[in-house]
Amino acid sequence: MSQVTNTVRFVLDGKIVEAQGARRTTTVLDYLREDMHRTGTKEGCAEGDCGACVILVGELNAAGTGVNYLPTNSCMQLLPSLDGKSVKTVESLKRVDGTLHPVQEAMVTCFGSQCGFCTPGIVMSLTGLVQTNTCPTRTEINDSLSGNLCRCTGYKPIIDATQQACKQAPERLKIEDSADVALLKDIRRANVPIYNLDGDIVVQPVVRTRKGNEFVAPATVAEVADYLTNHPNATLLAGSTEIGLQVNKQFSRPDNIVYLGNVAELKTITSKAGVWHIGAAVSLTEVQNLIGNAYPDFAEVLRRFGSPPIRSTATLAGNIANGSPIGDSMPCLLALGATLALRKGDKTRQVALENFYTGMKKNVLQAGEFIEAVLMPQPKAGSTFRAHKISKRFDQDISATVCALSYELVGGKFTNVKLAFNGLAPYPCRAPKLEAVLAGNSASSVESEALDAAITASFPARDGLRATWAYRSLVARNLVMQFVEESSDLVKETV
Ligand SMILES: Cc1cc2nc3c(=O)[nH]c(=O)nc-3n(C[C@H](O)[C@H](O)[C@H](O)COP(=O)(O)OP(=O)(O)OC[C@H]3O[C@@H](n4cnc5c(N)ncnc54)[C@H](O)[C@@H]3O)c2cc1C
Ligand code: FES
Ligand code: FES
Repeated sequence: MSQVTNTVRFVLDGKIVEAQGARRTTTVLDYLREDMHRTGTKEGCAEGDCGACVILVGELNAAGTGVNYLPTNSCMQLLPSLDGKSVKTVESLKRVDGTLHPVQEAMVTCFGSQCGFCTPGIVMSLTGLVQTNTCPTRTEINDSLSGNLCRCTGYKPIIDATQQACKQAPERLKIEDSADVALLKDIRRANVPIYNLDGDIVVQPVVRTRKGNEFVAPATVAEVADYLTNHPNATLLAGSTEIGLQVNKQFSRPDNIVYLGNVAELKTITSKAGVWHIGAAVSLTEVQNLIGNAYPDFAEVLRRFGSPPIRSTATLAGNIANGSPIGDSMPCLLALGATLALRKGDKTRQVALENFYTGMKKNVLQAGEFIEAVLMPQPKAGSTFRAHKISKRFDQDISATVCALSYELVGGKFTNVKLAFNGLAPYPCRAPKLEAVLAGNSASSVESEALDAAITASFPARDGLRATWAYRSLVARNLVMQFVEESSDLVKETV
């Protein structure tokens, strides 16, 4: 019989918590409320949409001198992924002298709360914001609240409260966590593989049941690859924004879960020969920061991807692997000519993203194979990239379509055209027939009728839950026309 292991260790307000009897799919929210009685953290939707469950999850900074916090939807995260991290809930904010955090004080004085159900989540999102930005603009405050729904107060008093809190000295806005750094070092797990006497890697589980079901949190890519070779049906867990949904809403209980969030090599971004290698555990927030100047349109698509607590854990690789027909990052990556580095055992191969999908939520990954990195080309002189997301709401909404286009203009004519969409086909894909309408032509000779015909010839005319075919095909064509017309400004600039 396998040895049973079920203690998850994390730091909560200056103490190490040993969560015993943890199941591999217990959510952080359930553990905080039911076992720790931290009932300030609420459950609204249990699907990442309402923000009532937002907490801050902390990890040691690179120098090991302080804690970096990320706003996180505790309803989506599995408890064993907290192992080695720290947690702050709304109860953590009360200071040792009994006073409230400035954000809490300002929420009271600015009348930022009525029924109060959303308030702890809102306070935690704002407290997270002011840890790194003590003077946020109104837009930054709005963005930080895009994953927090308040149905009765209205957002103006909440925004006013944030601005009032930020009038306090920056050190007052910092979370009190002086005791946590040493404790986080105490509970840190090994960062090298462990081998048995035969020289085989032994991945230590965080949780293992009597039946042998496990949650493992490897520290190296070699361990991930080895574990998947031995357990090809194991479920990879990255940011948990899809898996958490499957656990909560479809009652999925995967037998073996491999968490990628502790693998340092997968959390890095490197730059080689004009290409960014974005590790599979890099969050969308980090990608958004990386590409802000290089590809502002792509960064804007990511600003509208879920909300800050979703983006702080969700990964680019997870978005690709999940393969939703309306996945937002893929049209941008397709138009940029991105490639995936896939790994199986000790072998790696590269597959262009445009060859990755084989059908609705189907791809070329073999059993035991995983995405190790996403290879995104950096901007090239003379090349233009455009993208835009159409959705019913600006914030926290699923796409009707994202259109992304890259091209060069040679003698005023389009060349090297790459055009991609989501929402029009069973998986996000390039649109060669539309590319052909642009290629070799100047902006003034591209006709919307030709684009309409190419859309009809390329994609199945199917209505979806989010939008009708008539709407999707019209906005898709209009976006291409807009990008084409705006390219004339580039021609004028270069004349
Ligand atoms: C509230 C909410 C809002 C959302 N908004 C958007 C949105 O605006 N746009 C959008 O496109 N999506 C959205 N999503 C969907 C989701 O957030 C994304 O698909 C996200 O990028 C998934 O990444 P993750 O790291 O959380 O994946 P996880 O949930 O950890 O995993 C997702 C899938 O990918 C697999 N996987 C993960 N990493 C790898 C890997 N390295 N190799 C192979 N397989 C892997 C997992 O096994 C699983 O099947 C939203 C989800 C929620 C809950
Ligand atoms: S409970 Fe609604 S986002 Fe978690
Ligand atoms: S105060 Fe009632 S939902 Fe926000």
